[in-house]
Amino acid sequence: MTATIIDGKIIAAEVRAETKQEVEKFVGLYKINPCLAVVLVGENPASQVYVRTKSKMAKEIGMDVEDHIKDTNISEQELIDLISQLNNDKKVNGILVQLPLPEHIDSRVIIDAIDPIKDVDGFHALNVGRNSIGGDLLKKSFVPCTPLGCYLMLKKSIPNLVGMHAVIIGRSNIVGKPMAQLLLEESCTVTTVHSKTKDIEAITKQADILVAAVGRPLIVKANWVKPGAVVIDVGINRVENPEDKSKTMLVGDVDYTDVARIAAAITPVPGGVGPMTIACLLRNTIKAAFSQNQK
Ligand code: GUN
Repeated sequence: MTATIIDGKIIAAEVRAETKQEVEKFVGLYKINPCLAVVLVGENPASQVYVRTKSKMAKEIGMDVEDHIKDTNISEQELIDLISQLNNDKKVNGILVQLPLPEHIDSRVIIDAIDPIKDVDGFHALNVGRNSIGGDLLKKSFVPCTPLGCYLMLKKSIPNLVGMHAVIIGRSNIVGKPMAQLLLEESCTVTTVHSKTKDIEAITKQADILVAAVGRPLIVKANWVKPGAVVIDVGINRVENPEDKSKTMLVGDVDYTDVARIAAAITPVPGGVGPMTIACLLRNTIKAAFSQNQK
């Protein structure tokens, strides 16, 4: 078997096109552009790239973007003050604080300072709780962008997820935990494995759906995967290029070449989950804009 490639670039372009239509509808109705505020603290090169890409993509579909680039030494209180200024700014519909934050700042304090109706990352405790409860509360809340992107990609390969065994590798608040909630809501049987799990391969081998989100380059080999599984690779790891040691390259958590031999479908890195995360951020932002204006 050779796996079908789940092309994140194509699916993300579809999501952005749908979102652009929603933006046009919004502008027609309210005569203002939806607006995303992006907060970046410090000079983490990967974060700088993500923030630039987010801003560019948002502008391309007609959204306004406010970039707030802050020095690493900003205090927690100064950051909280910036968040409350953005919360009170009627023009701003969505607020994204790029993670990770410097160590002297408590990310949980900052995230929970964001007004939940502007929390387009879906990281605020209220949105996390609503997602966990599910049903109508999930529909009204913001689902974190990476798991939402993975979910939309999965639905392309498996329209009916009911009863599937989904195994998620990783238990982060950004991906692993919300992914588990989303798939539970779809009536999957969900298992989360992590660094302390014994005999991970024995569990991953049972998965109809395998989501790898641990940030360990190429850890998932073919002998971890059930033939015919659908594999979603969330990892984006920069490693030395074996063909030219002076260069680096991006690889996922999944050994793509090995696993593609036996999986039914697989996402590549790059060009898989990455573009979907940004598309879903834009989708959440227009959802926020509509809900703040519909009275
Ligand atoms: N850092 C890594 N992924 C994310 C994300 O989805 N949102 C934010 N805000 N920061 C991140």
